[in-house]
Amino acid sequence: MSEAPYPADLYALLHRGTPGDLAFYSRQCAGASAVLELGCGYGRVLEALARAGSRVLGLERDGDLLALAAARRRRLEAPAAQRIALVRGDMRHFELTRRFDRILIPHSGLYCLLSEVDCTRCLECVAAHLTDDGLLILDAYAADSFHQLAEATTPLRTTPDPHWEDEEFEPLVSVEQNGRVYDVTEASRWTPAQQRLDVVYRYRSRDGGAPSDGHIPQRYLLASQLPGQFEAAGLQLLSLHGDFRGNPFREDSEQLVAVARLAPRSWSGR
Ligand SMILES: C[S@@+](CC[C@H](N)C(=O)[O-])C[C@H]1O[C@@H](n2cnc3c(N)ncnc32)[C@H](O)[C@@H]1O
Repeated sequence: MSEAPYPADLYALLHRGTPGDLAFYSRQCAGASAVLELGCGYGRVLEALARAGSRVLGLERDGDLLALAAARRRRLEAPAAQRIALVRGDMRHFELTRRFDRILIPHSGLYCLLSEVDCTRCLECVAAHLTDDGLLILDAYAADSFHQLAEATTPLRTTPDPHWEDEEFEPLVSVEQNGRVYDVTEASRWTPAQQRLDVVYRYRSRDGGAPSDGHIPQRYLLASQLPGQFEAAGLQLLSLHGDFRGNPFREDSEQLVAVARLAPRSWSGR
């Protein structure tokens, strides 16, 4: 698959979250004393939370996205800006000096972890950094509805092909940055046996020049896998909804919104 990093400024132009997510996370964090966002990207959730009065720490692996988050913080008025801290790190293994009463993984961030082991490592780090009554809150696109259409025998792609043909791409949207317009097309490859989705966004400037690609490899989870995945890391699923309005999760839900806490047995010995 395309290995060049996704240019952060192009990423930020296109990936703007899911309608209702900022209000949802702001409600969930109201009154919390310390919030940690894993995979904070260019800081759109951090900004909304800080504006609503929360103290937030954003952890992000990509230095260019983190720099965009820092620039965004500089543009905020002082009281909100001072409530935001940023750290470069990996959500699969981090060690911070405090615990948090809310840990968030918004906008399918957990799907960036491409193996069950990585997912468990991340959730174990979450468990180690949650206060006893703290909550992990995450959202992602729901994959159950399309995954069940897959043939169980679909072959695993063992040698990923790094080349994406132009014919694979479908028009998606046009975006504009500093007067330059990009036509964005999208291609995806799905490997159901691995619950793997590779999506490439191709940005073609109307001014000409070579296109830029942004690759987002993902390993999605099914709703039925969440309780076990949490349990393996010492967490317990508290609720699962199908949207940000609190409707129950159903097989045809487009969104998956989960809240978890430390499993009671994890409280002892901390
Ligand atoms: C889908 S984006 C969500 C960004 C942000 N939370 C939002 O809602 O706009 C996932 C983010 O996680 C970051 N990420 C992926 N793997 C990571 C890892 N192992 N550790 C830390 N950040 C990671 C990506 O760089 C990206 O910014």
